[in-house]
Amino acid sequence: MNHNAISYGRPAPTDRSAPPSASASSRFVIAVGTDMLIVAVCFGAALFFRFRAIPSTQLDMYFEPLTRSIVPIALLYAGANLLARLDEQIWRYASVQEVISLWMTTTACTLFTIIVDVGIGMTRTRPLPLSVVLLGGILTFFAFVSARYRGRLITGVVWRLDALRGKFPPAQVRTLIYGAGDAGQVLARQLRTKTGIESYVICGFVDDDLMKRGRRIQGIKVLGDRQTIANLVDRERVDLIILAMPSIRRSELSDILSQCQKTRARIQVAPDIMGFIAARKPEPLLREVGIEDLLGRSPIPMDHAAASGIITGKIVLLTGACGSIGSELCRQVAALAPRRLVVVDNNETGIYDLEIEMRTRFPAVDITSVIADATDGHKIEQVFREFAPHVVFHAAAYKHVPLMERYPEEAVRVNVGGTRVVVDLAQRYDAERVVLVSTDKAVNPCSVMGATKRVAEMLVATAGQAHAVNMPGTVTRRTLCTAVRFGNVLGSRGSVIPTFARQIELGGPVTVTHPDMTRYFMEIPEAASLIIQAASLTEGDDIFILDMGDPIQIDDLARKMIRMRGLRPDVDIPIVYTGIRPGEKLHEELAYAAELKQATAHPRIYRHSGGQYQDAASTDAAVDRLLSLAAPESRTQLVAALFDLARADQASSGALEQRFGLQSPVLSN
Ligand SMILES: NC(=O)c1ccc[n+]([C@@H]2O[C@H](COP(=O)([O-])OP(=O)(O)OC[C@H]3O[C@@H](n4cnc5c(N)ncnc54)[C@H](O)[C@@H]3O)[C@@H](O)[C@H]2O)c1
Repeated sequence: MNHNAISYGRPAPTDRSAPPSASASSRFVIAVGTDMLIVAVCFGAALFFRFRAIPSTQLDMYFEPLTRSIVPIALLYAGANLLARLDEQIWRYASVQEVISLWMTTTACTLFTIIVDVGIGMTRTRPLPLSVVLLGGILTFFAFVSARYRGRLITGVVWRLDALRGKFPPAQVRTLIYGAGDAGQVLARQLRTKTGIESYVICGFVDDDLMKRGRRIQGIKVLGDRQTIANLVDRERVDLIILAMPSIRRSELSDILSQCQKTRARIQVAPDIMGFIAARKPEPLLREVGIEDLLGRSPIPMDHAAASGIITGKIVLLTGACGSIGSELCRQVAALAPRRLVVVDNNETGIYDLEIEMRTRFPAVDITSVIADATDGHKIEQVFREFAPHVVFHAAAYKHVPLMERYPEEAVRVNVGGTRVVVDLAQRYDAERVVLVSTDKAVNPCSVMGATKRVAEMLVATAGQAHAVNMPGTVTRRTLCTAVRFGNVLGSRGSVIPTFARQIELGGPVTVTHPDMTRYFMEIPEAASLIIQAASLTEGDDIFILDMGDPIQIDDLARKMIRMRGLRPDVDIPIVYTGIRPGEKLHEELAYAAELKQATAHPRIYRHSGGQYQDAASTDAAVDRLLSLAAPESRTQLVAALFDLARADQASSGALEQRFGLQSPVLSN
C-alpha cells in the first residue's frame, strides 16, 4: 500500500515502488490518527445524545466501557479505510463512487461491531448499547465524508455566499454596433435583453449615413462614421464592435474591417439577424470574422443552366477526389445530378471518408469510389473502360513547392505522368471533355512543382490539337481538352491559413517567409464552381484563368488573422520572417504575356489562347524523356530537362533566370 499519498485532499504520488519518505510516514500517521479521533468523538457524541436525559452521575456507567472499547473500534474503522485504499484517494477530484466506498467500509465496521457487541452480550453485559453503535457508525460516516471533502465544502459555501451577496455580476461588454439600419436596431434590442455570463452595454451606433449622425434610435446615439471608429473605441472604452449589415458588399465589409482592426476591440459579425429572429436558420446571433470577409470578394452565383448542361445525366470522373479542391468538386458535381460520379484517389482513408460524406449528403447520386494511382495507366484504363466517363476533372497532383524541390522525380511522375495517363485515356475513350486543374505557379515557373504543372498544361494543349477523330458520317467529334488556372484557395490542406491558425493557437510565433510576399486567394467553393463553369465554356485548346481579384500581402494576412482572434501582432504573437523557400516566388502571375485574354459569358472567367506550344509529337517525345529520367539518381538531369521543356514555348519572364542565376532576379509580376 502506498502510504505516501495519505493526506485528505492531496494528490497521490505516482511512484508506488518508492520507499515512504519521512514526511509521507508522518502523513500516514496523521491520517490514521485523524480517522481514529473521528471515530472516538462520534461514538462519544452518540453516547451523549442517546443518554443526554439521564443524570450525569449515571452517564459514567456507560462511558467507562466505551473508553475501554473505543481504541479497538477506532482501529477497526481506520484499518478498513486503509484496506479499501481510501487513503490513496485525491479527494479534491473525488466523485460519488468514493463516497459509496466510505459508506461501505463504515457500514461493514458498524455491523462487525454490532456482531461482536451482541456476541459478548451472550456471556456477560454488552459493552455498548446497540443504539450507540448504530448512531456512532452513522455519525462516523458523515464525519469521514466531511473531513475528506472539507476543501470542496468550504469553497462551495464561500462561493454560494458570494453569489448571494451579488459578488459575481455578469461581465459587461461595452459594445459598438456598426450599422444603424433595421438589422442594427433589431440586434440592439436582442443584445439588451440577452442574459448569460455576459451582458452587453450598447455604447452607440456607427453609421456612414450622414442623416443619422447624432440622432438617437431606441435611445442609442449614432456616434459617428467608419472614419471615427478608432476614436470612438478609445473614448467609449469599447470591448466589442459588431457589424450588423447583412446585405453589405464584401469589398465594403473588408474596408470597414480594416478600420475596425486598427482598434483594440474584438470584432464580430451579425450574419443574418432577421433570420435569427424568425428562427428560420439555426445560426448563432453573432459569428467571428472569417478570412473570407477580409478577402473582399462577393461570390457570384453559378450559371446553373450552363453547368448542368455538361453534368446532369452524365458520367463524371474526378481524380484527386479527396483533396481540398477535389472533394468540393465532388459536392458541386453531385448537386448537379450526374448519372454517375466516379471518384478516384490513392488516399485510402480519404476515399473512405469521402464515400461516407457523399452517401449521406447525396443519397440519390450513384457514386463509385476507386482507389487508384493516377499514374497507373493500366488501372486507370480499366476505370475508363468500365465507366466511359463523359466529363473528366483531373485534380490529382502533388502541390507542395518546397517538398517537390527535394523530390523532383515524384513531382514529374505524378503531375506530368498522371496528367498524360488521364488525358490520353479521356481521348481514347471519347470523353466529351477533360479539365486539368492547374495553378498560377505554372506561369513562368521557378519551382519544380510549377514547372511540372506547366508541362501538364502543355500536354493538355497539344493533346487537344492532335486528337480530332472523324466520326462516321460528316460529324467531327473530339475530346475538348482544357486547363483551369488559378491562385491559392483559402484553407486548403497544408496551406498558409490553417498553418497560421495553428501557430496562433499555440501562442506563436507566426512564420512569414518575406514581408513583401503576395499571393492570390479565393474560396474553395468559388474555385470549384468556376472550374465547372469553365468546363462548360471550353471549345478545346484553351486555358481558363479565374479572376482572383487583387493579390494579398501574406504579412498583412498574418496580422489580420492575429487581430481577428483579439490578439496583437508583435506583442501577443510574434511574427518571424524565415526567408523565401526554395522554388518560391515573391509574387505569382496568372498569365503569360503572350496569351490573349478574352472575356467569357462568366464575369470571373477569362479564356486565354494563343500560347505558343510545341507540336504534339515534340512535346510527347520530351515528356517521354522526362518520365524516363524520373528517378532519384538522375535528379540534376531531370530538373534541367524539366525546365528546358517548361520554358520551351514561352519567353521567360525572368523567373528561371532567378532560379538558375543567369540574370539578376526579376521578382515582381
Ligand atoms: N490548393 C491550392 O491553393 C491550389 C490552387 C490552385 C491550384 N491548385 C491545384 O488543384 C489541385 C488539387 O489541389 P488541392 O489543394 O486540392 O490538393 P490536395 O493535396 O488537397 O489534393 C490532392 C489530391 O490528389 C490525390 N493524389 C495525389 N497524387 C495522386 C495520384 N498519383 N493518384 C491519385 N490521387 C493522387 C491526393 O491523395 C489528394 O487527395 C492540384 O493540381 C493543385 O495544383 C491548388
